Amino acid sequence: MRADRFTDKVALVTGSAQGIGFQLALDIAKEGGKVVISDVDDEALREGGKVLAQGGAEYLALSCDVRDRRQVEAMVNKTVETFGRIDILVNNAGILKNFTIEETTDELLDATIGINVMGALYAIRAVTPVMKKQKYGRIINVSSICGKMGDHSTTYVYGASKGALLSLTRSVAYQLGPFGVTCNSIAPHAVMTKLMAYWDEGRKKDAAEKIPVRRLGTVEDMSHLMMFLASGEAGFINGENVNINGGYYMD
Ligand SMILES: NC(=O)c1ccc[n+]([C@@H]2O[C@H](COP(=O)([O-])OP(=O)(O)OC[C@H]3O[C@@H](n4cnc5c(N)ncnc54)[C@H](O)[C@@H]3O)[C@@H](O)[C@H]2O)c1
Repeated sequence: MRADRFTDKVALVTGSAQGIGFQLALDIAKEGGKVVISDVDDEALREGGKVLAQGGAEYLALSCDVRDRRQVEAMVNKTVETFGRIDILVNNAGILKNFTIEETTDELLDATIGINVMGALYAIRAVTPVMKKQKYGRIINVSSICGKMGDHSTTYVYGASKGALLSLTRSVAYQLGPFGVTCNSIAPHAVMTKLMAYWDEGRKKDAAEKIPVRRLGTVEDMSHLMMFLASGEAGFINGENVNINGGYYMD
C-alpha cells in the first residue's frame, strides 16, 4: 500500500463491509492508514477483509451492530487495544427503506433512528476520551441530501435521521474543537450501492438527467471528499456539512 496522507493514522468506519464505507477504508489504507472495517453483514465483512489483505493493508474486520451500545464500545476498545489510537471515526452505517408514512412500522422507526442516529451518538461518545487524550481527531458523519431537503420518496424517518446528524455534527464540533478534534458531515445523493438497489434503470436515468453534471455519484466521489475531511489538511474545517450531489441541490 502507498504511504501518504494517512501514515500512522488509524481510521474506524462503521457499516463499512461494502459501499461507500468500504471504498473509504480501502482508499485510506492505500494511503498508509490502518483501517477498521465493521458491519452487521459478516459475509460482506469477510469479503472486504480479503480485498484489504490482498492489498497488504493493516486492518481489523469487526462484527458490530451500531444499534447496540456495548458492541460499539467493544469495537472502539478493540481498535485501541490493537492499534493504540483512533484518529478518524466515520459514522457511515445506515439503512434506508422505501415506505409511505402510513406504512412505516414502529420497528422501522426504531431501527432507522437506532442505526442512523443512536449508532453515531454511541460511537462519538466512545471515541471522545481517546481523541481528547491524543489531542487529535477527525469525525465524519454520513448524512444525506434527504437530511437537507427532506425525503419525498422513501420513509419519512430516513430524512429525520439524516437531519439529526447535521445538528449533531455542529454540537460535536463546538465541544471537541478545543481538543484538536473536528467534526464534519457529508450529504451525498444518488450513489448506486446496495442501499439504493430499489432504484430501477428508469429512476437512475431520470435522476442523472436532473443532476447538473449529468451523472450519478460514485463511491469514489464520496471517498475522495471524506479522505480530505479526514486528513490533517482539513483542520480548520469544523461543523461543516458538504453537499456532494453533482449540483442537484445547492445551499
Ligand atoms: N448511496 C447513496 O446514494 C446515499 C445517499 C445519501 C446517504 N447515504 C448514506 O451513506 C451511508 C453508506 O451507505 P451506502 O450507500 O454505502 O449503502 P450500503 O448499503 O452499501 O452500506 C451501508 C452499510 O451499513 C451496514 N449496516 C446496516 N445496519 C447496520 C448496523 N445495525 N450496524 C452496522 N452496520 C450496519 C450495511 O450492512 C451496509 O454494509 C449510509 O449512511 C447512507 O444512508 C447514501
